[in-house]
Parts: sequence; structure tokens; C-alpha cells
Amino acid sequence: MTAFFMQSQRLGFRTWEAADLPLAQSLWGNPEVSKFIHAKGAFSVEEVAARLEREMETQRRFGIQYWPIFELSSCTFAGCCGLRPYEKREGTLELGVHLHPAFWHQGLAQEACQRAMAHAFDDLKAAALFAGHNPGNTASRGLLTRLGFTYTHDEFYPPTGLQHPSYLLEKRA
Ligand SMILES: CC(C)(COP(=O)(O)OP(=O)(O)OC[C@H]1O[C@@H](n2cnc3c(N)ncnc32)[C@H](O)[C@@H]1OP(=O)(O)O)[C@@H](O)C(=O)NCCC(=O)NCCS
Repeated sequence: MTAFFMQSQRLGFRTWEAADLPLAQSLWGNPEVSKFIHAKGAFSVEEVAARLEREMETQRRFGIQYWPIFELSSCTFAGCCGLRPYEKREGTLELGVHLHPAFWHQGLAQEACQRAMAHAFDDLKAAALFAGHNPGNTASRGLLTRLGFTYTHDEFYPPTGLQHPSYLLEKRA
């Protein structure tokens, strides 16, 4: 049985392990998922392994990562959602979510982000959350708007080589 450290109504969150490479490959190796998050539109096998290692390193150093998430009803791997340091603004963490296409259009990205946001504000005492998206990613734009984020500026995002619309959400008093 998978040990989840955090749950929402339909999703369980755990941390990445080295043995999760096949799960990581099924997510970041899927061109539908990587289309808007990689300059070439797809991760190589080596890049997926490096991404997995980076997530584990972020967890070791900062206690956060884009955690792997699982649909509770089926125990199926659905993607990842979580946090990483955002160094350009004090007290601020970056929020992100990548779902396997089979889990799109069900409100699961919104549910996962809301759980990660509550963890950031209530448990980790973040002052604000940052998020950005590829200018072509209308699904991501809609999601961030529904989550209450406010557009602040465009920011260069090295992994895609594009200026990404960028957003902020400050903790409510
Ligand atoms: C961006 C991404 C996470 C959005 O996923 P999503 O499923 O569209 O997002 P949401 O959870 O907000 O779901 C909204 C959809 O679920 C529907 N929905 C169904 N039940 C719902 C519920 N209970 N609550 C909310 N929405 C619900 C909404 O009507 C909406 O439908 P639509 O997409 O047909 O308009 C997804 O496209 C993805 O993972 N893409 C690949 C990775 C990526 O680009 N990530 C973003 C990086 S910046």
C-alpha cells in the first residue's frame, strides 16, 4: 500500500523514489504532457531521469517537490503537483502541476493545486505563491485564474526558451 503524506478528496500525494523512473517516464515522456514545458516539446529518456533526480534533490534540500499524485479510488498514478523554491521573491514558492491526459477535464488539477496551496500557506508558512505558464497553454491559464492567481508580468523560462505569463497569489490575512 502506498504511503501518502497528504490527501485531497480524490488524490493521494507521496514523494518520488528512484524506483519511480517508469512512472516518471510515463508522465514526462508523454509529448501531450511535455508539449508546453520543454523547448523541443518532448523529454529524452535521459532528461526524464534527470528531472526525477532533481525532484528527489529538491525534497532532500527543501522538503518540497512536484510530488507524484495518485487517484485514491483506483490507486492509479495521475501525475505530479507541488512546490519548489522561487528564488526571485522572498518567502515565495512556485506551484506546478503536470497530469497524465487521462486525468484532464475532471477538476483534478484544481483539486491537487488547492491541496498543495493549503500545505504551502498553512504548514510551510509561505507568504506567496508564484506560477507561470507557456503562452500557448490555455488550460494552464484557466486553471491559475480559477485558483485566484493574478497576472503580474512575463518572465523568461529557460526550459522552453519563451517568455511565460507569470502570476502571484499572496496569502490572505
Ligand atoms: C494544465 C493542466 C494541469 C490542466 O488540467 P485540467 O484538467 O484542464 O484542469 P482542471 O483540474 O482545472 O480541470 C478543469 C476542467 O475539468 C472540468 N471539471 C469536471 N469536474 C470538475 C470539478 N469537480 N471541479 C472543477 N472542474 C471540473 C472543468 O469543467 C474543466 O473542463 P474543460 O477542461 O473541458 O474546460 C493539464 O492540461 C496538464 O497537466 N497539462 C500538461 C502539463 C502542463 O502543461 N502543466 C502546466 C504547466 S504550467
